[in-house]
Amino acid sequence: ADIPVITIDGPTASGKGTLADEVGKALGFEVLDSGALYRVTGLAARRAGLDLDNGDAVAAIVPTLKLSFRDGHVFLGDEDVSARLRAEATGLLASQVAAHAQVRQALNQLQLDFRRLPGLVADGRDMGTAIFPDATLKVFLTASAATRAERRHKQLISKGISANINSLREDLEARDERDKNRSASPLTPAQDAQLLDNSALTIEASVDQVLGWWQQRR
Ligand code: C5P
Repeated sequence: ADIPVITIDGPTASGKGTLADEVGKALGFEVLDSGALYRVTGLAARRAGLDLDNGDAVAAIVPTLKLSFRDGHVFLGDEDVSARLRAEATGLLASQVAAHAQVRQALNQLQLDFRRLPGLVADGRDMGTAIFPDATLKVFLTASAATRAERRHKQLISKGISANINSLREDLEARDERDKNRSASPLTPAQDAQLLDNSALTIEASVDQVLGWWQQRR
């Protein structure tokens, strides 16, 4: 527990991933994108033809996954599934499997293993509340649903993927509802979390705010 951790939790498309990457880069820390673990689990469960409502069955495949992480890419066996994981459809699969306590338990140790010197920045939904309750700094990042849908839309368009902003907003609100209302590690700020609404902030300003809090705490 001497290894410092910064947790960044928040709803879908709030910019957690970008913020975590930038803070990680600035401090030279390891970065854990915990959503990718739920995404890869959802994808593998779907491919195996499992009933995603069956938490035991989905949890049982977790130890059989041949996962590796190289240069910001996620591999399932020899297959680079990174692009596949980022698809909106995979996000929905992820939030279905993430609702099961058994699945969360199965992914527990994998997440803890990312805690290595000189430190870790972990982003997700329950990093500060469940996985790293002793984190040095906990941030809860929010942005309005309209802002989040707009950002996701821009991101997809820039990748040449066509998308409808209204259906994106509906999808992310549906996912947020499921994440907030589940009984297993629901999306909620840790009691000792710093709240950051980045609706009107540049990425640089958000990074500076987090690094400022970090300086005060270390
Ligand atoms: O962050 P990302 O959008 O990749 O997460 C995909 C889904 O995985 C979320 O909607 C949520 O249901 C689930 N998740 C979770 N706990 C985490 C990270 C992600 O339940 N720590």
